[in-house]
Amino acid sequence: MGSGSTLDIIRTKLSLARSVTVLTGAGISADSGVPTFRGTDGLWRNFRAEDLATPEAFERDPRLVWEWYNWRRELIATKRPNPAHDALAQMEQRFDRFWLITQNVDGLHRDAGSRKLSEIHGNIWMVRCTQCGRVAENRDVPIAILPSCASCGELLRPHIVWFGESLAAEDLQRSDAALQTSDLCLIIGTSGLVYPAAGFASIAKQAGAFVVEINLDPTPHSGIVDAALQGRAKDLVPLLLQT
Ligand code: OAD
Repeated sequence: MGSGSTLDIIRTKLSLARSVTVLTGAGISADSGVPTFRGTDGLWRNFRAEDLATPEAFERDPRLVWEWYNWRRELIATKRPNPAHDALAQMEQRFDRFWLITQNVDGLHRDAGSRKLSEIHGNIWMVRCTQCGRVAENRDVPIAILPSCASCGELLRPHIVWFGESLAAEDLQRSDAALQTSDLCLIIGTSGLVYPAAGFASIAKQAGAFVVEINLDPTPHSGIVDAALQGRAKDLVPLLLQT
């Protein structure tokens, strides 16, 4: 099946859909210049995300983890949403039942105007006190190392869901409800390696949705999806909305 006809099929499904759920990963922000996690440009001082984004790494060396986040905060602060983020913000307006689930912590979906949104791994501009649990916005670039809580003076950590930590119950429930009831599900720019999000395509598929993958490369999802478009998110996602 040529990609022209695949695109036509997806557009038709989208025009008939009553409930749409979208899952995005680092690939959608790659087109804004944010490095992905598993691409070579995502490495910082040769550490992998799995070496730094854990509660154990933070306990062992909070300075190192904050230095990594400062590198990422500096990078992300200069980045803007791209046409793929914009197209999803527009898509939200077309459906009564629409939900966008992102693994990205860069806040670019929100910047593009998406509101029906779960940032299931958190947001890089939010911090949380390790002692009193107070959550606050902090857009300092760089953030002071080590940052302390405005209420109790104890150490702050990024308000991000790390490896080995659970997603917020509310995010899981919302995502599950959206996946269970959608008739179209788009999986955009994610390697499909990190759970629970890696299981979302199967949940949608089992619930009867038409599942579409958009990615530069084949992924573990590619085998189960109903249609796949290979290429850059910034080029392909806007095409879905053109009639
Ligand atoms: P990955 O870095 O694992 O995967 C990025 C995916 O995007 C890959 O499948 C690429 O092929 C694809 N890709 C790259 N550029 C693209 C483009 N321009 N258009 C379309 N696709 C493109 O990122 P995630 O799957 O998001 O967790 O990683 C999942 C989680 O693991 C992240 O949320 C993060 C990480 O550790 C936390 O920070 C907690």
